[in-house]
Amino acid sequence: MKLPRAYYNWVSLIGAVLAGISLFMILFLIVVSLFIEVTSSYLGLVIYIILPIFLVIGLILIPIGMVRQRRRMLKSADPDAASKWPHINLNLRQHRNAFSIFLISTVVFLFLSAIGTYEAFHFTESTEFCGELCHKVMHPEFITYQNSPHANVACVDCHVGSGADWYVRSKLSGLYQVYSVIFKKYPQPITTPIHNLRPARETCERCHWPEQFYANILRTEKHYLADENNTEWDIMMKMNIGSDYHALGQEEGSHWHINQDVSIEYISETEDRLIIPWVKYTNLATGEEITYRDEEYGEDLELLANEETRHMDCMDCHNRPSHEYLAPPFFTDISLTRGDIPKELPDIKQVAMGIHYLNFPTTDTAMMVIEADVREYYEMMYPEIFEEKYHLIEKAIAGIQEDFKQNIFPEMKARWDVYPNHLGHINSTGCHRCHDDKHKSSSGRVISRDCNLCHTIVGQGHPDQFTTVAVRDSLEFVHPVDIGEAWKEFHCVECHRYLY
Ligand code: HEC
Ligand code: HEC
Ligand code: HEC
Ligand code: HEC
Ligand code: HEC
Ligand code: HEC
Repeated sequence: MKLPRAYYNWVSLIGAVLAGISLFMILFLIVVSLFIEVTSSYLGLVIYIILPIFLVIGLILIPIGMVRQRRRMLKSADPDAASKWPHINLNLRQHRNAFSIFLISTVVFLFLSAIGTYEAFHFTESTEFCGELCHKVMHPEFITYQNSPHANVACVDCHVGSGADWYVRSKLSGLYQVYSVIFKKYPQPITTPIHNLRPARETCERCHWPEQFYANILRTEKHYLADENNTEWDIMMKMNIGSDYHALGQEEGSHWHINQDVSIEYISETEDRLIIPWVKYTNLATGEEITYRDEEYGEDLELLANEETRHMDCMDCHNRPSHEYLAPPFFTDISLTRGDIPKELPDIKQVAMGIHYLNFPTTDTAMMVIEADVREYYEMMYPEIFEEKYHLIEKAIAGIQEDFKQNIFPEMKARWDVYPNHLGHINSTGCHRCHDDKHKSSSGRVISRDCNLCHTIVGQGHPDQFTTVAVRDSLEFVHPVDIGEAWKEFHCVECHRYLY
């Protein structure tokens, strides 16, 4: 097939070959991925981002080569190059061929790039792209995400949401993130909270619609003490999420804070929002305002005058809806309940605690220490179990290792104390940041720490001596191990953040 002479030069030829090969590979990989279930996130990166770059470079090389070739021909007084610009004459076969190739390939290219852009868009919005591509950096977030009730909600549904505005913002900050991953400039651990997170109103509330909210729920948790028998202690609580009567919506209970008529603003002394010396409640319907100040904070409050206030939303309680790092006693309780760690093995909770609170440089070291320590402990302390029921020890080792991998991430320094959960008050300050009986208004009203405000205990104790009351009544809390009145005097977190 004849083409204009300017086409015959090395640059254009290389361009054409490059474009041809890229196009072929793109099509080939698309076909492959249609027929074979490929889970690798790199494939999407190759098909929709890397190969198209080579395709475009190839296509650009073709005209560059042609222009250079024409210049050369002009200089060498070639008869073909009499005029400076090409004249297109469709009656000539070469011109017709070149023109049809140009036309067809433009149409095909535009069509493919439309599909490609669409796929590239989808790919950069996918959970694989966000969670797996920068494997090391996003590993903790990705693992905890997979264990969360939101494992089927895409990362972008919470982190970007809908609309072009946030899409562009997310891609711009994404560019910076790519740079920081390549040049290892990312912080370890990744800083929390995310200060420019899209407001919950525009993300969470698209699925969880506050006008139709949740009624109270009953929850029972099994706990195991770190003693010889791994003594079980169950707690059954009614969580006062909303009103007792569904029709009353969020008039009371924890979701009172997001009642449409309620606005709560606060100032935090620190970036991490853990110390909150000033809180203001406004009733938007009546205009009533109450300001509470942390009495321990005293005069320093003037320093806060310039600080920005934050409006309380879902995120001030549910800050870990998708990346919850449980504290060792609690994740071990879950594995003991499930049977992943055999509870008939004496001392096993205590042994597990002794390991999880250590600091390890890498996950691999932790895995080795878990295996060695557990084995050694039973060999020394319970030789008969070590001899006769070694399978229990083996199972315990596997369970403890798995627990560690799901909740503690030494490489990125991510764990429960670095990413505190605001929902609750045992392993982090959580609700007690405000609800501590110490935030007082000028009239003496406090933000209450009453144990029956947020939940009522309807059952507690060892399964053999489980005390219960009717759902509308409540029991006074009995601490699972006798610590006297200490649980009334101190915040739970003061002992529980690093219990062992
Ligand atoms: C249900 C909503 C939701 C989903 C789904 C979700 N996240 Fe998050 N993510 C959050 C919230 C809320 C925070 C904490 C924000 C804060 O405290 O400021 C967060 C925080 C983060 C952080 C900062 C570190 C931290 O833990 O505070 C990273 C990184 C992150 N998410 C990555 C991801 C990735 C990757 C995915 C998908 C694999 C994902 N997220 C899915 C809601 C979500
Ligand atoms: C794309 C929809 C979607 C978005 C966006 C979303 N969620 Fe969810 N959420 C769900 C689904 C689905 C469930 C699981 C429901 C179930 O377990 O019955 C859930 C469950 C929950 C639960 C209950 C968890 C439990 O342990 O039972 C909480 C709390 C929650 N979401 C909070 C949030 C918060 C906070 C955000 C915003 C950061 C958010 N969700 C964003 C769909 C969503
Ligand atoms: C930023 C401060 C702040 C935080 C954090 C906070 N609260 Fe509150 N909460 C308030 C204020 C202010 C009131 C109103 C106090 C009053 O009665 O004067 C309140 C009232 C309540 C009430 C009573 C509502 C009613 O009238 O029935 C409940 C229940 C409650 N909070 C639960 C929680 C839970 C659960 C958490 C943690 C997940 C939490 N709060 C975290 C500020 C806060
Ligand atoms: C003041 C703290 C607070 C705020 C603010 C808050 N919640 Fe909750 N929410 C709670 C508590 C406490 C529970 C009960 C948790 C439990 O049972 O462990 C709960 C439960 C839930 C549940 C689970 C209900 C179920 O039946 O399992 C969902 C979903 C939820 N909240 C979504 C939201 C969303 C969305 C927002 C923002 C619009 C929000 N919450 C704001 C404290 C809060
Ligand atoms: C401001 C609200 C609030 C107050 C006040 C409060 N709690 Fe809680 N508490 C919570 C929330 C929310 C959780 C659930 C955390 C979660 O979902 O894991 C919780 C969890 C618990 C649990 C753990 C249940 C389990 O089995 O995992 C116990 C025990 C408990 N609270 C006891 C108390 C006692 C005792 C007091 C009084 C000193 C108290 N709480 C005061 C909000 C509160
Ligand atoms: C003086 C320190 C101290 C204070 C304060 C304290 N605890 Fe404890 N707590 C302990 C000790 C010690 C254990 C026993 C650990 C073990 O044997 O597993 C424990 C165990 C528990 C357990 C069982 C834990 C598990 O591993 O499953 C729960 C639940 C609990 N405490 C709740 C609370 C609550 C709620 C508060 C606050 C109202 C509180 N504690 C305050 C020291 C304390």
